[in-house]
Amino acid sequence: MSSANIARYMAKIPMIPEHERLVKDHQPQTPVDRQRYRYISTRCLSVKCVVSFALIATVIVALMITMGKSLPPDEFARYEVITGFFQQDDPSTVPGTFDYANHNFGLIDQVYDTDADYDTTESKTQWQRFDHKVFRLNRESRRLVQYKIMFLARHGEGYHNVAESYYGTPAWNCYWSLLDGNTTTTWADAHLTSAGIAQATKANTYWKTMLATQKISTPESYYSSPLYRCLDTARITFTGLETDDRHPFLPTIKELLREGIGAHTCDRRSNKSVIANAFPRWRFEEGFSEEDELWKPLVRETESAQDARSKIVLDDIFATDSNTYIAVSTHSGEIASLLRVLGHRVFSLSTGQIIPVLVKQTIVNGTPLPTTIEPWTPVSTCSEPPPLPTAVS
Ligand SMILES: *[C@@H]1O[C@H](CO)[C@@H](O)[C@H](O)[C@H]1NC(C)=O
Ligand SMILES: *[C@@H]1O[C@H](CO)[C@@H](O)[C@H](O)[C@H]1NC(C)=O
Repeated sequence: MSSANIARYMAKIPMIPEHERLVKDHQPQTPVDRQRYRYISTRCLSVKCVVSFALIATVIVALMITMGKSLPPDEFARYEVITGFFQQDDPSTVPGTFDYANHNFGLIDQVYDTDADYDTTESKTQWQRFDHKVFRLNRESRRLVQYKIMFLARHGEGYHNVAESYYGTPAWNCYWSLLDGNTTTTWADAHLTSAGIAQATKANTYWKTMLATQKISTPESYYSSPLYRCLDTARITFTGLETDDRHPFLPTIKELLREGIGAHTCDRRSNKSVIANAFPRWRFEEGFSEEDELWKPLVRETESAQDARSKIVLDDIFATDSNTYIAVSTHSGEIASLLRVLGHRVFSLSTGQIIPVLVKQTIVNGTPLPTTIEPWTPVSTCSEPPPLPTAVS
């Protein structure tokens, strides 16, 4: 049984062309596997297949009705970033050299119009005054508008990051990323390297500093991609912080916060029971399946399909969570996609980096402009390992 979010996503992406043939030609598949790919095949013309599509469609509609969380068909959610608060949303800030830990997560030092009746003794910190500013924005906004402060964190360095640098991106993409690892390293659902653990530890220390010096609020809600490197980054980042009793560190694992899906084994998640064992008591979103139902070999989600997915997960978080401070542990590609959907400027993050974003959601009447969603596309493969990049002197 899939989650309603997966159903929404599957309903949006066009069928994957030629996938069945690709998989069959590339490596032998068990009959069970072929069965699972059939619903995305373009050759879905048989009666049986049409019936199964009808069944999926019925399940989707039923889910949407019973969940009652999706918007009426004549309303949709629009997102925008409120700029002028963070250095990261200022076009003059260079993303490549920026570090969230240099100054207040990037919060710009300034006076807000809401300071006057809040900070009469001029004793509040920048983050306390920002917090109050956002509180006022929410309090004074119309019913269909909400503001959230989202901390989008990229996981620390994983073994797949090291392997991609070692082999070079072209060889990684066409050959090595399709394998679970080499003879000495595993990168399927990659774990953090010691450098990755150090990056997450730095984030943990920084949150502690910000709590002590800026009296920042800890996140009220925590979400993570189901991939191990993100779960572990979130665990290290937020363990041992003094959180408000009403908002303990208890993340929700959301399927659609994962990295671009398909082909690369580092982006194939572990079974739910394996995750539950490694991260006991963490919550799974409703309908989270035991096995990874989305990942497929040899095809990869396109940017437009990923953006459609990011929109679904944002709509879901905003519809079900009234908290303001939201922490999200995810990936570089997924943060890039979330930022596109939110309307933030391009801001790429190296491993372990964090970007705070002040987001405004407005529920508007009408239908959104249609967008083209490209089907997942086959990846180009190399039949043998390409030579190692020659060392640059
Ligand atoms: C496996 O890949 C790692 C980089 O991820 C590299 O350091 C190591 O040398 C490789 N092992 C072999 C046997 O090539
Ligand atoms: C995941 O669980 C399924 C049973 O639900 C099992 O067949 C499969 O082998 C498991 N995969 C892994 C990688 O353990």
